[in-house]
Amino acid sequence: MIIIRHYMRNLRSLEDTRIDLAVKKQNLVLNIYCIFYGGTIMIKLAPSILAADFNILGEQIKKIEGAGVEYLHVDVMDGNYVPSISFGTPVIKSIRNNTKLIFDVHLMVDEPIRLVNDYKEAGADIITVHAEACSDLVATIDKIKTLGLKVGVSLNPETPISRIENVLQDIDMVLIMSVDPGAGGQPFIPSTLEKIKDLKSMLDNKGISLDIEVDGGIRPDNVMDVLMAGANVIVTGTAVFRGDILENVNRYNKEFERYKEIVK
Ligand code: DX5
Ligand code: ZN
Repeated sequence: MIIIRHYMRNLRSLEDTRIDLAVKKQNLVLNIYCIFYGGTIMIKLAPSILAADFNILGEQIKKIEGAGVEYLHVDVMDGNYVPSISFGTPVIKSIRNNTKLIFDVHLMVDEPIRLVNDYKEAGADIITVHAEACSDLVATIDKIKTLGLKVGVSLNPETPISRIENVLQDIDMVLIMSVDPGAGGQPFIPSTLEKIKDLKSMLDNKGISLDIEVDGGIRPDNVMDVLMAGANVIVTGTAVFRGDILENVNRYNKEFERYKEIVK
């Protein structure tokens, strides 16, 4: 009986390793493809830890990293700009030393300019603020840049792109919310697709190249529409952390592969 159990355990870990290697290979192929065929814009998956099991957060992050994902989306909610409270710098500090993932910190807080130093200290690589939450967006962007971080600006579903047209040349990423900020597991707002297309054509007309991140309600069965509209950074919480993380990431990679074939 012990021998069989031992044999079964080995079999399972062999299976995990196989999936692991397959996903890594696929990511490599996809990244190489984007460099050679698609110019410099890379498609990135950014799993949101808001949907993670905090009881085993470290383990889950290791799985994400093992699946070849580069980004970790970190949703900070202050209970003010959005009704709910998530987590802050103590959690970010505690996971920072255990992973090389790029921390894509999404600040859903009022007047984020007062907090960006703390998130830099905690380990953020990218800080995204909401245009609606800043009394001085330009000063907030400048402050994040002086910290040596990448800067993103986010728009709620009802906020038009024109609100940030004047800062597009100064930032690295636009985050388009495809749900009302404040919770995971909400349905994707379909009108977001037109907004992504509008932003993409505005950027092309201005000759500006930056990442277009979309956040909220994205799953493997609707991500193709989001990519085809022009987005390249895909935030996803529930659809990665619920169930088997490796298989879930693999489903996204299969859609990324399909996208690659279509745009070839
Ligand atoms: C919502 C957050 C999202 C959310 C995404 O305010 O900004 O990042 O966690 O979760 P899903 O993918 O479950 O909609
Ligand atoms: Zn988010």
